[in-house]
Amino acid sequence: MCGIVGYVGKHAASSILVEGLKHLEYRGYDSSGIALAEGNGIEVIKKTGRVAVLAGLAQKHASKASMGISHTRWATHGGVTDENAHPHLSWDSKIALVHNGVIENYKALRTFLEGEGATFRSQTDSEVLANLIAYYYNLDETAQNGNRLVCAVRQSLIHVEGTYGIAVICADLPNEIVGARKGSPLCIGVGHGENLIASDVAAFVGRTQNVVYLDDGQIVHLSREDFSITTIAEETVSPVINQIDWKIEEAELGSYKHFMEKEIFEQPQALENAMRGRFSDDESTAKFGGLNLDAREWRQVDRIVFCGCGTAWHACLVAEYLIERFSRIPVEVEYASEFRYRNAPLDKNALFFVVSQSGETIDTLEALREAQRKGFRVLGITNGVGSTIARESDGGVYQHSGPEIGVASTKAFTSQLLISGMLGLYLGRMRDLSFGDGREMVKAFKSLPGLISQILDQADQIKAIAERYAEFQDFLFLGRQSMFPIALEGALKLKEISYIHAEGYPAAEMKHGPIALISEQCPSVVLSPHGDTLKKVMSNIEETRARKGRVIAITSAGKDFPDSAADDIIRIPTAHSCIMPILSTIPLQLLAYYIACKRGCDVDKPRNLAKSVTVE
Ligand code: G6P
Repeated sequence: MCGIVGYVGKHAASSILVEGLKHLEYRGYDSSGIALAEGNGIEVIKKTGRVAVLAGLAQKHASKASMGISHTRWATHGGVTDENAHPHLSWDSKIALVHNGVIENYKALRTFLEGEGATFRSQTDSEVLANLIAYYYNLDETAQNGNRLVCAVRQSLIHVEGTYGIAVICADLPNEIVGARKGSPLCIGVGHGENLIASDVAAFVGRTQNVVYLDDGQIVHLSREDFSITTIAEETVSPVINQIDWKIEEAELGSYKHFMEKEIFEQPQALENAMRGRFSDDESTAKFGGLNLDAREWRQVDRIVFCGCGTAWHACLVAEYLIERFSRIPVEVEYASEFRYRNAPLDKNALFFVVSQSGETIDTLEALREAQRKGFRVLGITNGVGSTIARESDGGVYQHSGPEIGVASTKAFTSQLLISGMLGLYLGRMRDLSFGDGREMVKAFKSLPGLISQILDQADQIKAIAERYAEFQDFLFLGRQSMFPIALEGALKLKEISYIHAEGYPAAEMKHGPIALISEQCPSVVLSPHGDTLKKVMSNIEETRARKGRVIAITSAGKDFPDSAADDIIRIPTAHSCIMPILSTIPLQLLAYYIACKRGCDVDKPRNLAKSVTVE
């Protein structure tokens, strides 16, 4: 939520910052801005609207400044106006700041600063921090120039309650940026004769592959030639430089119209990447390098708790079905945001998994910390290499899905389902799952890229169906057992990007309420895989159609599901139950995508949403 980019180097900062912001726009897109250190002070350009609007203004301004900071906003405090957009200048125009997070005690700080003569232009909590830093900077006139800004930032942060990722510049110091983080991500791009600071490596991976991830409580002091890290408590930190393992081209649209479309079609490859090197030599089980638990420790685990938010929470629900079925270990699923505050009673031998595409979702991160505080081991499933969750968890599994830019998660979700299934296999093989059953599962996982490609080959047919349904305002999504979370995910995808009201429900529960909604105006998407419950689901479809509700069925049941059984049918391959949730997801993603396109929606940047939610 909110994206930050800062640059100090030899080149014109303006275009580098705007380019960086374009790659962070998924974090927020209601307004954006840029502050440039010009010879005679700080120039701020900011505007409501997309980064493209800012890009036009910045180009007109044609600044040669070689240092600056920038921001793309997702509003928390204060409406979407030009004044509330970042960067914020202190009242004396000396300090410019960009901020991601929430300053909880901003009202008290504002009252104090007003008493000291500061004036304010916006309603934001962030402007308070710009003024507080200016206040301390002006107090400390005796310090060395560079350290003076670091000292002012440190002094200010001691008084701040809340979360922040910030980048700060000062009109007196045209070669210095100070950044700090607590609760909001921040990393440094280490270049040659230039350095960058950003919320996410996507902002600078086009300029450097060298990254240093900042931890909470750290302050970084950047210049063109160098950088140093200290803590708020004034300890020196030895930085660790990591290599980014993907290239900027992977975050470009290529020939696709939207990132969501690109990411749906990338799924065969993304799943291939998630499996690579993760099966045993005899192909009867999965293996993971980073779980940091040996077989004996696993045997002692008698309950697993999964936490996540949004789409990742749906992946947790599927994990519950798969792990319980194949390993018989009881699994519980918690909304990360609820877990943190509800003080749940926990079994002594419970193990935690947190699931997060970005690895930065604040509620998931805080759930991880809460579980660790209570002495539990927490493993992470994340796509965010080097993310805060990856760094703070006790072990885990990287998804290797590649960068996911579209706000609606697609390939990251199916990779999470795959890893959950593979965990079910791995844990099952430590218990009662036989060698033969294990081999069948490995075979099924390996067949996924090909089977998904077969479904993607039907994209035109699914598009035609989608376009026939694009005008409806309400939808139901129904499924049983592991298809229930897939129904939830199908409904979420549709409402996120097309603004159609959609509800996911366990198919049999339909009769206990949602059936009242069914009419000619409310179609249903029914997940109808082959297997034990097919006949029951087909009865639910009959009940729906008897009430004039149109039905789109997604089925793998072949002849057992005749063409006459639904209004529209999307047929998917018949496969092992461990991969059916993944196969069933693909048509739902395509349906949502094509419906949103038909309605003219901004698929990659749906209103009010941001991809990475770093405020509570
Ligand atoms: C936001 C996004 C969702 C995502 C959720 C969790 O709400 O819009 O698409 O599922 O955050 O994100 P995470 O990065 O933790 O998986």
